[in-house]
Amino acid sequence: MAPSTDRRVPGGEPPSPDLVLDLLRSVIDPELGADIVTLGMVPGVTVAPDGVVTVGVKLTIGGCPLRAQIKKDVESRVAVHPGVTDVRIDWGEMTGEERSEVMLKARWNAREHAPDTEVPQSARVLAIASGKGGVGKSSVTVNLAAAIAAQGFTVGVLDADIWGFSVPRLLGIDDRLEAERVEGSDKPKILPNERPVGRGLLKVVSTGFLVGEDTALMWRGLMLTKAVEQFLRDVRWGELDYLLIDMPPGTGDVQMGLARMLPRTDLLIVTTPALAAQKVAARAADMARRSFLRVCGVVENMSAFTCAHGESYALFGSGGGQALADE
Ligand SMILES: Nc1ncnc2c1ncn2[C@@H]1O[C@H](COP(=O)(O)OP(=O)(O)OP(=O)(O)O)[C@@H](O)[C@H]1O
Ligand SMILES: [Mg+2]
Repeated sequence: MAPSTDRRVPGGEPPSPDLVLDLLRSVIDPELGADIVTLGMVPGVTVAPDGVVTVGVKLTIGGCPLRAQIKKDVESRVAVHPGVTDVRIDWGEMTGEERSEVMLKARWNAREHAPDTEVPQSARVLAIASGKGGVGKSSVTVNLAAAIAAQGFTVGVLDADIWGFSVPRLLGIDDRLEAERVEGSDKPKILPNERPVGRGLLKVVSTGFLVGEDTALMWRGLMLTKAVEQFLRDVRWGELDYLLIDMPPGTGDVQMGLARMLPRTDLLIVTTPALAAQKVAARAADMARRSFLRVCGVVENMSAFTCAHGESYALFGSGGGQALADE
């Protein structure tokens, strides 16, 4: 659903068409594994002075089953810009010639344009964050990861809390990480610790696997953002269905780094009933806006058990969390 005008921050300048195109570069065609701008699926963008953005989208086939997904992604990605009041999509269909050109581009892209990270394009990336520390980000991350893996998926867990790591303890894993020399790269790649869960698999990376819990203080000098980027780049993730990132408490620096390296990252905001909802919502929305990341849901932790369980499903759709974040 397109956001309504009255919820927008007043006074936001509408974005330029180029900026809208940049935002659209985070919309990945799940079938072709590249973004819709690179693939040439966006023939044009117009921005009206009142902030109404019209995006032309050409689908490979008219009855494209991914249409609903692409619509949702285009609308939500563009809507994160505070100057946007509404997003409209002007659908089109490719000619046979255009279609083969897109296929060619997709193949070229997959081969030549190896992304900056080892995270596969098809993996859904969720960053678990909050406006406040100690609300249960790490607990939510590992429980969600285990729950998804139990359904037969391969789930990466990246502990981005470089010096406050708690993922190793929560998962009961403390094996040192190993590295592997790879052809064509001068640096060895880090191999995540693997743990089967049900029919699925967890692949876990944390600085806790590099240093002892008591020596973590020595890492203070390390730049947080650099470390996270390095983990995204230097870990041999291999096949992944999901990547869950346990965010450190506090600043938005890590979010910004993530937004740059993995623009399709969705934020999952963790909160508790005890916190003033308004305040958390404002912070979360602010965080998302500055990094242009989308908020896909809110988990209310430490509330009723049934509630926490039911809420975790909001992940796969967008529910009250989106409304909360928009406010
Ligand atoms: N639903 C829950 N029920 C009971 N205890 C919980 C629940 N969720 C989290 N906790 C406890 O609350 C504490 C904080 O949780 P956790 O470490 O997951 O939070 P965090 O947001 O990751 O914290 P930080 O900001 O320090 O990284 C932990 O001791 C954890 O065991
Ligand atoms: Mg934590």
